[in-house]
Amino acid sequence: MKTDSNFLRLDNASQAASREVRFFWEGQEISARQGDTIAAALLAAGISHTRETPVSQSARAPFCMMGSCFECRVEVDGEHNVQACMRPVESGLNVRRQRS
Ligand code: FES
Repeated sequence: MKTDSNFLRLDNASQAASREVRFFWEGQEISARQGDTIAAALLAAGISHTRETPVSQSARAPFCMMGSCFECRVEVDGEHNVQACMRPVESGLNVRRQRS
């Protein structure tokens, strides 16, 4: 998968012991860690283009990671406008880029 971000996880003992969770981004399986938000999991996987603006279709990415900017909105299992930085990742979620 083509990646477009430079975020890396900080490795430490607690992260290494966390359980793996697998979900889907645009139909491709992504590995995350239990306790990740969707935004954190996507950034760690090298994916930052999570939505497009309705007028110009310009790319947007998670910015504040605390629920304030709404730049991280994605579609989760058909639900639009989900803030990826506020929703914990779960096994089997189907996450798509927000296009409206
Ligand atoms: S990154 Fe700002 S609201 Fe999610």
